[in-house]
Amino acid sequence: MKFSDRAMQVTPSATVKVSNTAKAMIRKGIEVINLGIGEPDFKTPKVIADAAIKAIQDGKTSFYTPASGLPQLKEAIAERIKKDCGVIYPVDQISVTNGAKMALYVLMQVLVDQGSEVLLPRPSWVSYKQQVLLAGGKPVVVETGDDFKITTKTLDDAVSRDAKVLVINSPQNPTGTVYSRDELEAIGKWAVLHNVTLIADDIYGKLMYNQNQFVSLIQISDEIAASTVLVNGVSKAYSMTGWRIGYVAGAPELISKVNAILSHSTGNPATVSQYAAIAAFESDQTEVESMRVAFEERLNTIYPLVQKIPGFKMAVKPQGAFYLFPNVQEAIKLAGVNTSGELVDLLLDKAHVAVVDGDAFGMPGYLRLSYAASLKDLLTAVDRITKFMNQFLKKQVSGGIGIETN
Ligand SMILES: Cc1ncc(COP(=O)(O)O)c(C=O)c1O
Repeated sequence: MKFSDRAMQVTPSATVKVSNTAKAMIRKGIEVINLGIGEPDFKTPKVIADAAIKAIQDGKTSFYTPASGLPQLKEAIAERIKKDCGVIYPVDQISVTNGAKMALYVLMQVLVDQGSEVLLPRPSWVSYKQQVLLAGGKPVVVETGDDFKITTKTLDDAVSRDAKVLVINSPQNPTGTVYSRDELEAIGKWAVLHNVTLIADDIYGKLMYNQNQFVSLIQISDEIAASTVLVNGVSKAYSMTGWRIGYVAGAPELISKVNAILSHSTGNPATVSQYAAIAAFESDQTEVESMRVAFEERLNTIYPLVQKIPGFKMAVKPQGAFYLFPNVQEAIKLAGVNTSGELVDLLLDKAHVAVVDGDAFGMPGYLRLSYAASLKDLLTAVDRITKFMNQFLKKQVSGGIGIETN
């Protein structure tokens, strides 16, 4: 069988791969702690699950809905955006997708031509680059500083005449970085000036900690909002990764193109999930708040402990999402390996902790640790990594660095 050039250039998701390896080890009875995963560890709140069960029992879920989602769900999304951001999107400016991942995929299909450049901050989420490639586009890296943020300066350094799209993900996966209103304003103005469409991936927008405030690009000004396509969904905030509901909100012409592609590709997202999502958006958000508080406690507990792991460094404390992204260049040297990928393998094999290689996000020399795990597991995992790294310190003191083989 001969595969398309398109299929040949795509690489599988590194985050999914590490999680699968960890799960396979767990099935063999090895007590691996999985910090590789990018999903909340909470059950979907009962009020949401109950709405789904009721929709099934009422016989509402056996049928197709419009490919772009139930009108009632679009209304609930519009209302939620209005409450959270104070911005009004009529329902014909909203399209429901199979998760935010599909929202981003379909947007690349709509916005990117063969060879068009898409500006992606380094580091950024694993799938953007692959989705750009699948659309025939050219991913262009925008560098960031110690705070993992792009600026108009790094945008100027990266941009060419053909740049069409810039993806902003705040709070950011894999770093937990959050852009302030002023920073977003500068980036937004830059995009308007250069006629670059902004994709605001706000999927972690409700997961903000320690009094830091979330601001979306759509809130900055009418002009910037008009150049922005909003992507969001229920996965992270409502602990609904498995339900697969995301959405796009943007200009009516864009949404009609999105809808046309969805109608020929996914069809509608699962009807039962759409009823669940209505309940999620319409709920009083207390469940979201209690999960947010739990994440905040985890961040505040493990951040200082991870800072103390030999060879692990973080310049800035994350403000949102549920990831830590330490620089582990010193740890790589200490452990006597050459790359963060090799360190990931060692941590899994010897310390039984699964984490993701920063290389997957465009930044080798870093690791992504997800704190979407119980506090108990997090403490055990950090303790295992600390002990694992400490042995190299001891060896260094007694002369010679080597790798424990037991
Ligand atoms: C930055 C970012 N955007 C989008 C997604 C996709 O989320 P979903 O498809 O589950 O809605 C993820 C999931 O990991 C993510 O981290």
